[in-house]
Amino acid sequence: MLDIHSHILPAVDDGAKTVQETARLLAQMKEQGVTTVVATPHFFPLGTVLDDFLCMRETAAKEILELCREQGINLVLGAEVLYFGGIGKVESMRRLTLGGGDYLLLELLGLKKIDDRVIRDIEALKNEVGITPIIAHVERYSRYRGYKKLFPLFEKGVALCQINASFFASKQETRAVKKLIATELVSLLGSDCHSSVNRPVRLNTGIAALRAISSRQTRIILQNGEKLEKELISIDK
Ligand SMILES: [Fe+2]
Repeated sequence: MLDIHSHILPAVDDGAKTVQETARLLAQMKEQGVTTVVATPHFFPLGTVLDDFLCMRETAAKEILELCREQGINLVLGAEVLYFGGIGKVESMRRLTLGGGDYLLLELLGLKKIDDRVIRDIEALKNEVGITPIIAHVERYSRYRGYKKLFPLFEKGVALCQINASFFASKQETRAVKKLIATELVSLLGSDCHSSVNRPVRLNTGIAALRAISSRQTRIILQNGEKLEKELISIDK
């Protein structure tokens, strides 16, 4: 199984603080059937130099590569990029794609409002830069003004909708996931794990909760993960 969204790299962002913590998260993943993990540390464009970020990510990845091997988990490098105005014209975003391929994990947190400019940027990433944005934990934006403007992007395949496995812990997020599932808009599931205690890997429970909503959609989401996993492994090797 693929975990497309994780904060397992040690001391890079607000995820795992130490290599030991990474080891605990990897053990949780192994137990829950993860075979490939994409490390997606936060990339905050303001005040971050891209080269420095990539260098830090590389160093952290080297530190945990052996741990991943021990657990039999493939490690793919990516980032969770925070949206900024004009991102749709920034070619260097290619350097932050998952495994260096054509998918970019993009988060919209902090926006409060999803307006036409955001939508145009997402479309430009796809149509001009040639990257397919995967919108991270979409259920968390359900209260944003303009939230539903995202839906046509998912319908047209301009962007993909990722939800967090931990959605069931929040009533509001559960409601949002139910609506997304009912309209068949969800493509991918991720753990978004940060810490083995406070924000652990909850893929098992999340998948069970998802099955209770729609076993058919759950099967499709997991199949999408399998397909993408093959693509990402081939990129990485
Ligand atoms: Fe995240």
